[in-house]
Amino acid sequence: MSKASLFFKSLCLSLTLLLAVPAFPKPVLTNSDTEKKIDLLLGKMSLKEKIGQMYMHPGEYGNLSEDLKARIRDGQIGSILNEVDPKIVTAIQDEAKKSKHQIPLIMARDVIHGFRTIFPIPLGLAATFNPTIVEETARVSAIEARTTGVTWTFAPMLDVTRDPRWGRVAESPGEDPYLASLMGAAMVRGFQNDFKPGQSLAACAKHFVAYGAVESGKDYNTVVVSQQQLHDLYLPPFKAAIDSGSATIMTAFNEINGVPATANEYTLNEILKTNWGFTGMVVSDWGSTENMINHGYSKDLKMAARQSIKAGVDMEMVYTAYIDHLEQLVADGVVDERLIDDAVRRILRIKFKIGLFENPYPVQGELLAKASLELAKQAAMESMVLLTNKGGILPLKKGIKKVAIIGPMAHAPHDQLGTWVFDGKKEDTITPMMAFKEHFGEENILFEPALSYSRDFSKQKFGEAVQAAENSDAILLFLGEESILSGEAHSRVFLNLPGAQLDLLKKLKLETNKPIIVVILAGRPLVLTEVSKIADAILYAWHPGTMGGAAIVELVTGAQSPSGKLPISFPRAVGQIPVYYNHKSTGRPPSGNYLSMDKIKVGTNQVDLENRAVYLDVETTPLFPFGHGLTYGKFSFHDLSLKSTNLKVGESIEVKFKLTNRGKFKAKETIQVYINDPVASLTRPVKELVAIKQVELEPGNSRVISLEVPYRRLGFHNSQGKFVIEPGDYKLYIGSESQKTHTMTFKVLR
Ligand code: BGC
Repeated sequence: MSKASLFFKSLCLSLTLLLAVPAFPKPVLTNSDTEKKIDLLLGKMSLKEKIGQMYMHPGEYGNLSEDLKARIRDGQIGSILNEVDPKIVTAIQDEAKKSKHQIPLIMARDVIHGFRTIFPIPLGLAATFNPTIVEETARVSAIEARTTGVTWTFAPMLDVTRDPRWGRVAESPGEDPYLASLMGAAMVRGFQNDFKPGQSLAACAKHFVAYGAVESGKDYNTVVVSQQQLHDLYLPPFKAAIDSGSATIMTAFNEINGVPATANEYTLNEILKTNWGFTGMVVSDWGSTENMINHGYSKDLKMAARQSIKAGVDMEMVYTAYIDHLEQLVADGVVDERLIDDAVRRILRIKFKIGLFENPYPVQGELLAKASLELAKQAAMESMVLLTNKGGILPLKKGIKKVAIIGPMAHAPHDQLGTWVFDGKKEDTITPMMAFKEHFGEENILFEPALSYSRDFSKQKFGEAVQAAENSDAILLFLGEESILSGEAHSRVFLNLPGAQLDLLKKLKLETNKPIIVVILAGRPLVLTEVSKIADAILYAWHPGTMGGAAIVELVTGAQSPSGKLPISFPRAVGQIPVYYNHKSTGRPPSGNYLSMDKIKVGTNQVDLENRAVYLDVETTPLFPFGHGLTYGKFSFHDLSLKSTNLKVGESIEVKFKLTNRGKFKAKETIQVYINDPVASLTRPVKELVAIKQVELEPGNSRVISLEVPYRRLGFHNSQGKFVIEPGDYKLYIGSESQKTHTMTFKVLR
């Protein structure tokens, strides 16, 4: 087939995929009591009242004006965002009771990684590789949030991303679709808590879809993805969230291959509502309807309203395209009223599910309960990743008395909470400085921040820091990023430690020549190439939340071994980005050694093809790969075997091995299983994570472990968009991280 006809064929395929959109989402065939109640309500509501349900008002932040009250009584508002004063929420629901149909409002809030008790940022939660604890954190968040009357959270955020420049990487589950799926499903289970009355929030998996692929990490930017990337990389976490019952979905700000996510009939109507049979509600992101005018996709708000409702957006966040224009669009015959009915049905369904008709009011519950703070400490401990530990400097030896606590992040109670913490309070925070004083005694801590915040360039206090370091038995240097440097619309192109932090590390090393333990609190992977040369140990603590300081003390003193693993690769240099473990091979894979710039002969233009390098000036590999994270144990794998090396269709893979902890400390290891399909009808990534398991072992102990990988995990979407598992030879890798693994082979039979 000629190149031209091939191109034509693939064009036709994409057009078919784009055009084969049903006019209406699949009807939900259910006769349950709820559906009957919805039928009754819908039958009585005017078009205006229905459209009112589709509007989310931004709230008045602790106020309730007469105008807003009147609009609620008039049935013009379905939801309110960001109202957390229980008295106001009560008053709002009282007004709703006075409306004709007495439909309560669903109160929305971004409860992202905790409500009042703040847990690690979501990227840190992903680093736990432990869905059970993540589920627990979401449950506590829900119970705390319900005390204010909030019933809907805009979480989990499930945007897989390969770009640490993107500020929203802090909110994301990292670069792997399988890990993201585990985390997403766990968070949904936790927030929704089986819809227990008064103890659950409706979850909202966001941002649908491929927001993590924004160009160069520029927020809100253009997204161009292939069908395969869409289906195998960006969609799976959403599917997992829906399979675990996510009540709602939020659209994304970005366009996908030219069509904004908020008007995307293919992703919303066809994939989500029709193919996946999603019966919940879709909400736009803040202004993402109106933003389509800037995208160059809508002429005005009226057009944006038509495009969004047709694509399957049920509720509009804050902007007024729907309430201003839908009525007219229906009157003009441009929008079918059945689309409005379907949207309102979905909205009412969530309101029934979350129990609003029984009790829309704030409920009793404890904030910052002792058990919640313990959970926050445990989650923070499990999220922290020990990147390096030269000579086993950590944990600190017994008998250490004087400890120098240095650096701008040692006592930054607001910043260690991270991004998206509307309801967390810095007054509740346990900083490292506070926790170390508590543990070692105030008199034994030599505290010197040296820089007043992470971007500070003033070196005036460096002398005091050196002095503190000289007079101590152990030096802990707390570096990183303030919380404002990550999050929405907070992308960076320089991923070094900001301000004079690296200079501080260099100065301390030069002047004292003592071991330095660096603890980094940050909202994203930073470039640590220089730091890793100087530091004796690096503990990556992310923004760890309320109990971060207490968690760090436990790990540093060896009360618990670190167990966190990287959910995203750490680059050696910004120019390497994107650098990620599940990349493709190329026709000319790098041969190992890179040719450093200073070795290229002057006056020659000869290319050394034998020593093929991706870059001339930096190695191809990341500084720290996906899945990396040391423990205080020393784990080894033996006696690896596969139950069957010839898999029949549908048969799962069973790996058996013995894990031994040869170290001196009890520790928990995260076993990671990856696969590779070396020859396929479409080229496959060199590795894909397919299973994880955490095992804790006492020193000197071994355990025989069996691990099952479901057959389905071998599949991918082929060039026809069909999910397939192709027969042939496969590789299976198993280990403690993505790069240093044991290899086995097996065959999938026809
Ligand atoms: C963000 C969403 C968030 C919403 C409401 C938007 O700017 O993109 O993630 O849920 O605001 O606060």
